[in-house]
Amino acid sequence: MCGELTSQDLGQEVVLMGWVQRRRDLGGLIFVTLRDRTGIIQLVFDQEESESLFHKASGLRSEYVIASRGEVVSRAPEAINPKMATGSIEIKVKELRIISKSETPPFYIEDNTNVGEALRYKYRYLDLRRPEMQRNLMIRHRIANTVRSFLNERGFLEIETPMLTKSTPEGARDYLVPSRVHTGKFYALPQSPQLFKQLLMLAGYDRYYQIARCFRDEDLRADRQPEFTQIDIEMSFVEIEDILSINEEMIAEVFRQVLDIEISLPLKRMTYKDAMERYGLDKPDTRFGLELVDISPLVADSGFKVFSNTVKDGGSVRGINVKGCGSRFSRREIDSLGEYVKTYRAKGLAWINYSEDGIKSPIAKFLAPDEMDAILKQMDANVGDLLLFIADKDEVVFQALGNLRLELGRKLDLIPTDQYDLLWVTEFPLFEYDEEEGRFVAKHHPFTSPMDEDMDLLDSDPEKVRAKAYDMVLNGNEIGGGSIRIHNTGIQERMFKALGFTLEEAWEQFGFLMEAFKYGTPPHGGIAYGLDRIAALLTGRPTIRDVIAFPKVQNASDLMTNAPSEVDIKQLMELHIAIEKSDENKDV
Ligand code: AMO
Ligand code: AMP
Repeated sequence: MCGELTSQDLGQEVVLMGWVQRRRDLGGLIFVTLRDRTGIIQLVFDQEESESLFHKASGLRSEYVIASRGEVVSRAPEAINPKMATGSIEIKVKELRIISKSETPPFYIEDNTNVGEALRYKYRYLDLRRPEMQRNLMIRHRIANTVRSFLNERGFLEIETPMLTKSTPEGARDYLVPSRVHTGKFYALPQSPQLFKQLLMLAGYDRYYQIARCFRDEDLRADRQPEFTQIDIEMSFVEIEDILSINEEMIAEVFRQVLDIEISLPLKRMTYKDAMERYGLDKPDTRFGLELVDISPLVADSGFKVFSNTVKDGGSVRGINVKGCGSRFSRREIDSLGEYVKTYRAKGLAWINYSEDGIKSPIAKFLAPDEMDAILKQMDANVGDLLLFIADKDEVVFQALGNLRLELGRKLDLIPTDQYDLLWVTEFPLFEYDEEEGRFVAKHHPFTSPMDEDMDLLDSDPEKVRAKAYDMVLNGNEIGGGSIRIHNTGIQERMFKALGFTLEEAWEQFGFLMEAFKYGTPPHGGIAYGLDRIAALLTGRPTIRDVIAFPKVQNASDLMTNAPSEVDIKQLMELHIAIEKSDENKDV
């Protein structure tokens, strides 16, 4: 193949096929760079050697598919191209066949293009010809392959689970598929194989994995696609430690095989509580400092009502010391940080600039001198530091400061991009309160086991119960998450009660699993990783779209196939589906 040839092959006759990258005519010589997925190589056509061959070569255009036979020769020293892997050799062509011609492509096939997204996705097959995209997909393949070998060697079975199934409990909106045979009934595409992998444990397949497609109808972001791929794992007769240790070995193996990087094990662990209090987020990026500091006890009786009232109402006041940056930000820039935190529902951003000419701060006039001193001390502030504070409900303070911390890290260039920072976040809360629904919902899913220590709180203080749940975090991204499951019917029933489900409702939705639990349930647990996210992080891409061959764009459509699209009226009739004409979709 093109990219595999080296000076070891000098004198060999080779046959190469691929796409024309570009043709250059230099008087009696024509140079053609030929591309396949291994790389590019230069072909040379010499007019003096063969007039007809030369003439044929002069007709080559970008993206023509050709076959060529020729000899590997070395380039003259002045013609060596050090930027090209095959830059010291070229092919002296003896035979050329044009296999297929190409129209002028809508964009040139090369890396670092600034071609607009719409065009890239419409012609995704051309976009995928770019060396960078090919590298991304090859790395993705290596990751999947490493995972498979690792798990196969340890006795895991790869088992497929259905795509046409019932709604699963991951908490996003389902993609529904209408049934033709059962009028008015729908399958749901799986949000994950969760229920089925638990059933496989019940069925005695104690080590399962699957590289599984999952479907979730949620708002898309750089790290979210409506269909994505999980590395899904479940094990029986295990406790948390068993799962964490085999999983961190697996991830370390992926880093070894794919990036040739040694990850030191065991991985760091941080409880959810610590992660929130220090970083504001449950997927902390611990590659840099700027940790959060709680000053609530110091300002509970403050003259600054924004602070004291917040503490009285059960909220908190927390801050970040932006070390040495007192003079780095102008008033305008601080104001724009204030605007930034408002996008996370913070009501304001209070600041103290501990400058050489004393304290500058819009809130200084509300704070007593000893209060100010205590705050400075608690914040570990020195002359030159900028202190930023948010007062609100914990939830808002954490979200806003956690994201502000990341924003500051980016702005101040504090995040080392050459590090891979992996850690486990553990002891997640079992429930979170859903304001919209006005009830507790499972933070992970309703089959997650409470921690033994907290079992007594399940009925009385659900919000205090911690779960046997864990996430793996890489450079501030949640790459995987899982839990030990409930294997006891009594606890499962209490769990549903706490979630506000009646038993009938629980049976309606998950009855088949609950029925199965009656027939001998092994203790079990597992995890699922976002393969797309891992691949994006390991290839250094800013979005998972770059590691998915045919992704969807922001509004969940596919610009190449134009899916989703209208369907034939006959298809709708077979399904007994009528499309309502409303103002919103009057052109339907
Ligand atoms: P969870 O919902 O945390 O757990 O999903 C596991 C991992 O899948 C990835 N992920 C996504 N990747 C791309 N696009 C999406 N829309 C998307 N949603 C999730 C994340 C996440 O960490 N059944 C449980 C696992 C278990 O308990 O074993 C589950 O699905 O990287
Ligand atoms: P005000 O008295 O409303 O002008 O607020 C004085 C300062 O407190 C301004 O810098 C505001 O941005 C800030 N501020 C207002 N509300 C909050 C809040 N909830 N948390 C932190 N700072 C706030």
